[in-house]
Order: sequence, then structure tokens, then C-alpha cells
Amino acid sequence: MDALHGALLEPWKRNDVAAQKSATEDVRRHSIFAQLLADPMTRQAFRKPRGYPGDADLIDFIYGSESSVAGLDAASPTGRAIYAYNVETIASQGVRNRRDYIAKVIDEIAERKPKTEVLAVACGHLRELERCSPTSRRAIARFVGLDHDRRTTNFLTRQAYSDFVKPLTASIGVLLRKEIELGSFDLIYAAGIYDYLQDDLFIALTRRLWEMCRSGGTLLIANVTADNPQIGYLDACMDVGNSHTAKLCRDPTGIVAFAKLEKA
Ligand SMILES: C[S@@+](CC[C@H](N)C(=O)[O-])C[C@H]1O[C@@H](n2cnc3c(N)ncnc32)[C@H](O)[C@@H]1O
Repeated sequence: MDALHGALLEPWKRNDVAAQKSATEDVRRHSIFAQLLADPMTRQAFRKPRGYPGDADLIDFIYGSESSVAGLDAASPTGRAIYAYNVETIASQGVRNRRDYIAKVIDEIAERKPKTEVLAVACGHLRELERCSPTSRRAIARFVGLDHDRRTTNFLTRQAYSDFVKPLTASIGVLLRKEIELGSFDLIYAAGIYDYLQDDLFIALTRRLWEMCRSGGTLLIANVTADNPQIGYLDACMDVGNSHTAKLCRDPTGIVAFAKLEKA
């Protein structure tokens, strides 16, 4: 797997788009590809059963959350071995660091601001809440979890934190077009969505979220960086095309960049 990840990374290091495309074609034609798809995480990413990339079930494989257990139990020994490799890559560690960092920011803000109001954009399964302190969870007066996938927002209603999380099934387009009035928040964060946005949407969403952030509030956005050593595998074998930011504050692996903006 080291050799495969390394070989697929080479054309990315040279920024050689033609070689990236041909490496993708080569690996998908090769008999090894069927074995790679035996890893339930690679298969979930590549097949996109929800019809879009980066669904919350896929991210749960990275977190090792309970919803990934059935897929792993059903996997072949080869599939489990490939998963065991992929879940420990720097890219996967970066995603787990991102979740932990967000939990820390929620705790910090909830500690200093009574009746905190939070908006999580493209919230997925909100695994960061499992890492927040019970005290800060009690200090949160309103927590809106917005995601466009109804299966994901339904999942939120069955979780331990469903007593204070208000799931909202809506796309970021609804926010951008101001079709819904949510008021303002002390903390707005978005993780795992900016990775898929082109520059114009990236800017428009940031502007809109900043507007919704109240005075003294915080806007936190996370974006996978171009320094991701798994980028070749992600593109060729998982068909995950990411857009990448310039240098912002980074997680310890260097894989996730954060912009943390505090409103005066
Ligand atoms: C990579 S996951 C990240 C989930 C979570 N924020 C995390 O960090 O674990 C991306 C999430 O964005 C949601 N999503 C994708 N496109 C969206 C859109 N246009 N509007 C709202 N949510 C979207 C998906 O349903 C998915 O739950």
C-alpha cells in the first residue's frame, strides 16, 4: 500500500495533470482495483451510494464510529487489511484531528459564553459532540445542524445529543439564497464542505456565514490542503476531487487547514 500511495502521489508532486489522469486510468483498469474496493471505506467513497462525495457514513469509517462496524464485519480479510492501512494514513488522522479541534473550540466558546448558539454547516453525524465536555453541552442554548442529506439529519434525531441539537435538512444553497432565516450565532463552523467548493462558492458561503455570525462570535472553516500525501489515492481510487486552500492555520498533520475568524 505504501508503494501504491507513493506511485499515485508522484504526478501530483510534479503537478502533471495528464500523468494524474493516466495513473487513475491505469489503477482502475488493473486487477488490484477490485481488491482495493474490498475495503468498505474505499468502496463507499468510490461508489458514492448517496449520489454525492463525502457522505457522513464514509466519514464514520475514518472516525471508526459504530455505524462503520457492519461494513467492516462484512468485509473480506483483504478488505479489512486495506481499511486498516487507509484508516491510519495521515489524511485520515487529519480528519480525526479536525473533529477534535472543533470539539475544543465548541468547549472554549460554550465555557465563556452562557446560552451559546451554534450552527454546524454540512454537519454530518456531528461526531465532534461526542468529544465535547458535558458542561459545555449544557451551556448550549441552540445548536442547529444543517445538512442536505435527510438520512443524515434523521440519524441526528436518534443520537444522545438529540435533546439539544436541532437538525435542519437544507443545502448550503438555501443559506446562500437566504431562503431560511436562522438568525445569528456565537459559533458557526463548517468542516468537510469547503473541500468540494469552487472559489466563487467558497467566497459566497464565507461571506454569508460571516453575516450570520454575531458580534463577538466565531466563524471556523476547515479545508483539506494540497499537502495531502494521500491525494493520489483519494483521486484515483476513491474518486474524491478536492479543492485546496492557501496556507491557513493547520492541524498537526498539515492535512487540514482552518480559518478561525473572530468578529469584533
Ligand atoms: C465530509 S462530510 C463532513 C461531515 C462533518 N462536518 C464532519 O466533519 O465529520 C460532508 C457533509 O456535507 C454534507 N453536504 C454535502 N453537500 C452539501 C450541501 N450542498 N449542503 C449541505 N450539506 C452538504 C454531506 O451530507 C455530509 O454530511
